[in-house]
Amino acid sequence: MNQEEIKAEIRRLARERNALILAHNYQRDEIQDIADITGDSLGLSMEAARTDRDVIVFCGVHFMAESAAILAPDKIVLLPRPDAGCPMADMVTAEGLRAMKARHPGAVVVTYVNSSAAVKAESDICCTSSNAVNVVRSLDAEEVLLVPDRNLGHYIARHVDKVCHLWEGYCPTHERLKVEEIQQALTEHPDALFMAHPECPPEILELAHHICSTSGMYEFARSNPARKFIVGTEMGILYRLRKENPDKEFILPSATLICPNMKLTSLESLLRALQTMSPEITVPADVAEGAKRALDRMLAVPRD
Ligand code: 13P
Ligand code: SF4
Repeated sequence: MNQEEIKAEIRRLARERNALILAHNYQRDEIQDIADITGDSLGLSMEAARTDRDVIVFCGVHFMAESAAILAPDKIVLLPRPDAGCPMADMVTAEGLRAMKARHPGAVVVTYVNSSAAVKAESDICCTSSNAVNVVRSLDAEEVLLVPDRNLGHYIARHVDKVCHLWEGYCPTHERLKVEEIQQALTEHPDALFMAHPECPPEILELAHHICSTSGMYEFARSNPARKFIVGTEMGILYRLRKENPDKEFILPSATLICPNMKLTSLESLLRALQTMSPEITVPADVAEGAKRALDRMLAVPRD
């Protein structure tokens, strides 16, 4: 089959299976094109929670499909590449988090959705990059544990009036970004605005004109009159930024801004998932119950 035939077959099978195809903003261009909905972690979780389709095909990484399975327990959730994980999510375990909780009794646990269901089940509330500050502000607590991203944790800590304890996890893709790369891009493009994802290290965020989630970047680029933007997140976001703003320029400050896991899903693996109705992502009921409590509590809080 050539690419056009594969796309036609994906569309036909998605209709036949009554499937919703969700794609994260970092997915390959052709996956974003064929998806019913593209979005950030929060937006896609909300779509999964409210869909009336029978099947959700999640083009993203494992924790996202897991969240969809938790929020839509009566649906079949497929992850075309089961090996698409998130190294940051793997940096914390339920046991590790229990030990941290024991060191800080009374602190409220706020866990980034980039985490396993077992870790979410140990948490009081979840957050994403688009609601993290509001989530923490909404808590009637003086002390919080921010897990697992130390960079997002640092960003939250600067915006809230609470004692924050950070787990030492990070995203290897955002962590690679260097201050010198941003400075060079800003020197070469003095008229550009630098927008950065809160997974970037604090010294990078200090240089940012705007800090937001991936979907927040579409909104910022669309509504801001500036014509040039330096983009501090994974390169997959450039596709729609350029498509939706043909008169604006988007500059990637580093060639290392690629998440290998986000690039695993291809048209071929998406087609195979729909043909075989696998790999299916499921979560044991006892873990799902605790994780859903933390996710539902998060969904009640508005975006930052
Ligand atoms: P958002 O799309 O929620 O901003 O998250 C970025 C990310 O790293 C997902 O893995
Ligand atoms: Fe995980 Fe970073 Fe990839 Fe997002 S970009 S899936 S946080 S490794």
